Amino acid sequence: MKKMLITGASGYLGSVLVKHFSSKYKLIKLSYKNKIKGHLIIDLTDEEQVSKFAKSCNPDYILHAAGKKAKFCEENPEISLVNFHSSELITKYFPSALTYYISSDFVFDGFKGNFKETDTPNPSTIYGITKLKGEKSFNLKKHCIIRTSGLFDTNEKGFMNYVISQLSQGKKVEAFTNIYNTPTYLPYFCNYLEAMIRLNLTGLFHVCGNEKVSRFEFSKLIAKIFGYDRNLIVGKMAPKSFLSPIDSSLDNSKIRGLLNLNWPNLKTALEDMYKNSLNNTKV
Ligand SMILES: NC(=O)c1ccc[n+]([C@@H]2O[C@H](COP(=O)([O-])OP(=O)(O)OC[C@H]3O[C@@H](n4cnc5c(N)ncnc54)[C@H](OP(=O)(O)O)[C@@H]3O)[C@@H](O)[C@H]2O)c1
Repeated sequence: MKKMLITGASGYLGSVLVKHFSSKYKLIKLSYKNKIKGHLIIDLTDEEQVSKFAKSCNPDYILHAAGKKAKFCEENPEISLVNFHSSELITKYFPSALTYYISSDFVFDGFKGNFKETDTPNPSTIYGITKLKGEKSFNLKKHCIIRTSGLFDTNEKGFMNYVISQLSQGKKVEAFTNIYNTPTYLPYFCNYLEAMIRLNLTGLFHVCGNEKVSRFEFSKLIAKIFGYDRNLIVGKMAPKSFLSPIDSSLDNSKIRGLLNLNWPNLKTALEDMYKNSLNNTKV
């Protein structure tokens, strides 16, 4: 069995990757502050720790999902260096592993939307700047950068969770009408990533949902599929200070053209998620 190192294994994305790949690869799971049984604790910004660890471990693949989120980066710019310093250390100390670096739609300024891999990044947030800097560590002939956008599934603690929690209590949801992205259902993301790894794909790819929606439109769709009152969704404009590009939607046609793998639409994704949430409550 090939060896796969997952960074950020205690995080939202990392924990889903661990579940998805645990039967397919021999996993080495790295976390940082969260102490989880079976995970190794390493600060990926500490060169001594990374170099020492690299001597004991020779993975075939690295899924690099450690990082800091947008709000944290804005409030703690000095600590947000994990988004790029970790990438520099990984390429330096694991030169023979094929690394998949999870990057973000926030590398774009968000003025035009439907960004392709050929569009020039121009980040407007500290998070976006640090993610782009992280990308620069990777030689695209040897490694792979995956930009994604608005990951969601039943365990999500962000926007999706807020919408469902409010609606289920009959409370209103305030959702921005002018902030757009391409929401990405995690099970589909994992299937794509698995297919990419099977092909040892290197290069730059946008791996995300097919449809660009505003947060308002997305909330309406969630309410519809989950059977909640759609009138509880109230549209409003994001303030200028809002920490997100206006339209960071990504175009996924490059990877969809390469893989012979269906990526169902947002409605189907939400229906699947709803079905899973019913099954989980029955257990
Ligand atoms: N969530 C999304 O919608 C989304 C969209 C686009 C791109 N991404 C990218 O996907 C990646 C994962 O996002 P996420 O939502 O899963 O974030 P998350 O839940 O905040 O998880 C971040 C992970 O990084 C680890 N980490 C933080 N600082 C570290 C350090 N100094 N050394 C080692 N590990 C460290 C954390 O470990 P501890 O918790 O143990 O401290 C945690 O496991 C990020 O790089 C993000 O840019 C996410």
